[in-house]
Amino acid sequence: MTTADMPPAIEVHARPGQPLGMPPSRFLRDYWQRHALLVRGAFAGMEPPLAPEDLAGLACEEAALSRIVVHDPHRDTWLLRSGPFDETDFATLPKTHWTLLVQDVDKWDADVAALLGHFEFIPSWRIDDIMVSYAVDGGSVGAHVDQYDVFLIQGMGRRRWQISTDAQAPGAFRDDVELKLLREFHATHDWLLEAGDLLYLPPGVPHHGIAEGACLTFSVGMRAPAIGELVADFAAGVAEALPETRRYGDAGMPPAKRAGEITSDVLEKLRMELSAALATDSSYLRRWFGSFITRYRVANEAVPRTPPLTASAFARRLAAGDGLVRNPWSRMAWSALPRGAELHVGGESHRCERVLAERLCRPQALDAADILALDDAARDLLLTLLNDGHLAVVRARRKR
Ligand code: SIN
Ligand code: CO
Repeated sequence: MTTADMPPAIEVHARPGQPLGMPPSRFLRDYWQRHALLVRGAFAGMEPPLAPEDLAGLACEEAALSRIVVHDPHRDTWLLRSGPFDETDFATLPKTHWTLLVQDVDKWDADVAALLGHFEFIPSWRIDDIMVSYAVDGGSVGAHVDQYDVFLIQGMGRRRWQISTDAQAPGAFRDDVELKLLREFHATHDWLLEAGDLLYLPPGVPHHGIAEGACLTFSVGMRAPAIGELVADFAAGVAEALPETRRYGDAGMPPAKRAGEITSDVLEKLRMELSAALATDSSYLRRWFGSFITRYRVANEAVPRTPPLTASAFARRLAAGDGLVRNPWSRMAWSALPRGAELHVGGESHRCERVLAERLCRPQALDAADILALDDAARDLLLTLLNDGHLAVVRARRKR
């Protein structure tokens, strides 16, 4: 093996101003989607943005996606329960070996969402959610692989992480457990993570985390549509736009020789027809992907405002100093046009200025002064997004 083929260092220390221990460009070049990385002290001194009691409270909400995993280490049996939970569920859990996991906590808690500010070097539409887990001593979800990149931030307490970087690691799952647990797992690395440490794992790396005492882990998970999902959605859109009258045709064909035979000429013709139908221009591709990715894996759809706010009522709210905040479940992304931008929101596309598109994709609220400085077209768009349920009014503090 030459030094050029050697995998980069798997363990580094954070540096001042470099939570990954290196500039994001180097991380993306050398690790992203390829190699695991443990960063000691990436979030050193961080106060966990959420307490275990808050997580338990969230797990009692009807709309939150929560699970509890209980392991019996003597019989190696695993119990998976889905929320919502109530106080008695927590009161009856054993003293050790269980984990509570809640998905999409960034949508419920602004302090948890603020962690995403450390990952702005990744397009926001690639980020799925922050899942938070609370485990008591010995708590684990077992050895498994994930299909997506994940940044595991140790938020409180300690967790032992074992991973396998063996590309030949067996991938078979146990068939006696509801969870997708690996039948065999042989760790190549074994670390004890302290609060503030960060473990990055690309897709497909077998891993196993076990709490050493009570601990909280914040998992920043990516999303990557399966190519099959992309093809199905793209082709469905293309098919919808094709007229019924565009049909398979075979003008000039030779006489059929053998009953029932599909000849290689027919297959070649089909190949050409299908690729011609799917060869859309880049504006179609841009609009389709923007629509797809802002609908993809959205757990809660925006609910239109009833009754809608009128333009004059909106103007009055702005004059009173009210601002706008994004619906945390609404997905937004944009792409540059030769002039301006196409903003994609929950599957819909809108034209606007690039600065507005970028501003809307940032999590911070828009205050009244920012909005009043915009032109009429931009304010109309904000009103549309507000009435579609993608934005909400935040009341300014009124003077008494
Ligand atoms: C956990 O937080 O317990 C599990 C996270 C993971 O393995 O992806
Ligand atoms: Co995992």
